[in-house]
Amino acid sequence: MNPFEITTYKEYQDSYENAKNNPERFWDDIASHYSWQKKWSKTLNWDFKGPKISWFEDGKLNITENCLDRHLKKNGESTALIWEPNNPKEPELRMSYYELHSAVCRFANVLKSRGIKKGDRVAIYMPMIPELTIGVLACARIGAIHSVVFAGFSSQALTDRINDSTCCAVLTSDGMYRGAKNLAIKTTVDEALKSCPSVKTVVVVKRDNRNIQWTHGRDIWHHEAVENISDFCPAEAMDSEDVLFILYTSGSTGKPKGVVHTCGGYMVYAGYSFKNVFQYKAGDIYWCTADVGWVTGHSYIIYGPLLNCATTLMFEGIPTWPTASRFWEICDKYSVNQFYTAPTAIRSLMALGNKWVEGFSLKNLKVIGSVGEPINKEAWDWYDKMIGKSNCPIVDTWWQTETGGIMISGLGNLSEQKPTFAGKPLPGIEPVLLDINGREILDDGIEGHLCVKFPWPSMLRTIYGNHQRCKDVYFSNYDGYYFTGDGAKREEGMYRIIGRVDDVINVSGHRFGTAEIENAINSSTLVTESAVVGYPHAIKGQGIYAFISLEAGDHNEIDVNNSIISAVVGSIGHIAKPDIIQIAPGLPKTRSGKIMRRILRKIAEGNTKDMGDTSTLLDPSVIDSLIKGKK
Ligand code: WTA
Repeated sequence: MNPFEITTYKEYQDSYENAKNNPERFWDDIASHYSWQKKWSKTLNWDFKGPKISWFEDGKLNITENCLDRHLKKNGESTALIWEPNNPKEPELRMSYYELHSAVCRFANVLKSRGIKKGDRVAIYMPMIPELTIGVLACARIGAIHSVVFAGFSSQALTDRINDSTCCAVLTSDGMYRGAKNLAIKTTVDEALKSCPSVKTVVVVKRDNRNIQWTHGRDIWHHEAVENISDFCPAEAMDSEDVLFILYTSGSTGKPKGVVHTCGGYMVYAGYSFKNVFQYKAGDIYWCTADVGWVTGHSYIIYGPLLNCATTLMFEGIPTWPTASRFWEICDKYSVNQFYTAPTAIRSLMALGNKWVEGFSLKNLKVIGSVGEPINKEAWDWYDKMIGKSNCPIVDTWWQTETGGIMISGLGNLSEQKPTFAGKPLPGIEPVLLDINGREILDDGIEGHLCVKFPWPSMLRTIYGNHQRCKDVYFSNYDGYYFTGDGAKREEGMYRIIGRVDDVINVSGHRFGTAEIENAINSSTLVTESAVVGYPHAIKGQGIYAFISLEAGDHNEIDVNNSIISAVVGSIGHIAKPDIIQIAPGLPKTRSGKIMRRILRKIAEGNTKDMGDTSTLLDPSVIDSLIKGKK
């Protein structure tokens, strides 16, 4: 068998055993599938205490050679990228591997002409347009570290991320389209850059032709810059452990963390997991609906598919515009074979009714996928029946920004399916469930903390600029294990992910730390204190419930709500707006001043029968007033 391609369940089992028994040999074989400028000397060095993890030591490579150059000879004319614009009346764009290669090299030369070089950080704040993919690859081509920031984040959030890693450039566009909306985006960048002294270059892609402010010497138009520039750009020789990208994600405490991924291991795992989970075959049309601003877009719109010479579809718009049939129209228009989306999208489309799906054939679908949050049984069944026509495996893929690639999932049609269970780990992945004492749970059906006990190539290496935080968050809860932050249980070797066990909430597949939202709310001058918890939400998975204590005095509720919402939108973005705001005379605190979130969670869930032990509360009467005030 070709170790890179798993084609039967038996091969999966064999690969799993091989990887477990001899991980270095297993990953050597997988890595040999790629082209390296210089072969590695040591496959793996690891220590979860440091943590210090290195894969394919001394190897030299460039991921763009593997995504692009490697395919040119045989498949240069194959379609690499299909871009479907927001407005279905606007023509789509198809780029062959030749064209994409040339566009990436030009963009890379533009970056070089601005003095950007290996190791420099470049922020990318762009809508879902081809130049986003090209920009990401252009950075990788010259060894600049990309830090993509989702274009729904506020200018403040962008400032924080740019400054945390002292980016020297920002790639953006004038405006953007999203459904019926036409939004400014360069303006947000301009605002953000007022406090970012490190940024010397802004490359602006023309998308909607709006009038924008221009900072001479700093801003350049993408279309002008790429015009008279060579499309020859040698790929920078990168060490396996050189940084490929930083991607910010939320944790329980503090500001978002810059998760660091490195070149060699990330490449090896992104390509391998894509190929096998989606059972991608040459000629298939693959579509992942995520935004490149999240890790799913990095690994499974850009890198994973291109590493496999796949055709990857990129969609600028939203599932409900111009109608709620948009996803299915696109599937039929391009004869999509693999479709990968999030439970929140499935639930919202399901809620709008079957009529939006009926009439579409979806006949080319071979594998449909889900990612980002637990998928409930009802949504799973609808997805299976209405989209998969009861004839298409669902891959429920569990992974994280930190893991770089899919960790637990079925492999296309090879694996057994169990609704709401993500399935079994991929070869090389050794998950365990730990109880609160750190002991491995060996019995079925018992919930525990999901950890991983052996390194895998695409695991995070550090938190940018704060290695201690990496150690504290992921490697200190349980000695010798990577701690995921998720709770899970296992049945017959298959894992069901229950959800986060820390103070991270998952709203429509977007991760937020409750502390991060509280800090934003507290910046409103009306607020003295706040506590945010998640609660079950029929469409979003979890909604954001904010309990607020106000400054003394009379307050108009509408003014209060507006002030809180604008504080959150200003510091994080629209995506973090609380769904429910409850003004509370006091928050439930222990005598030592700690807020008892457990109680707030129960109130937010509407589950107030059994509050558990409240004897440590300073003022137990707070509970009754909170229950009375419940929204
Ligand atoms: C959750 C997204 C259940 C989980 C790739 C994890 C899931 C967090 C699944 C990471 C799934 C992701 N089933 N839960 N299939 N996939 N999650 O970093 O809580 O944005 O820890 O990465 O999403 O979110 P992130």
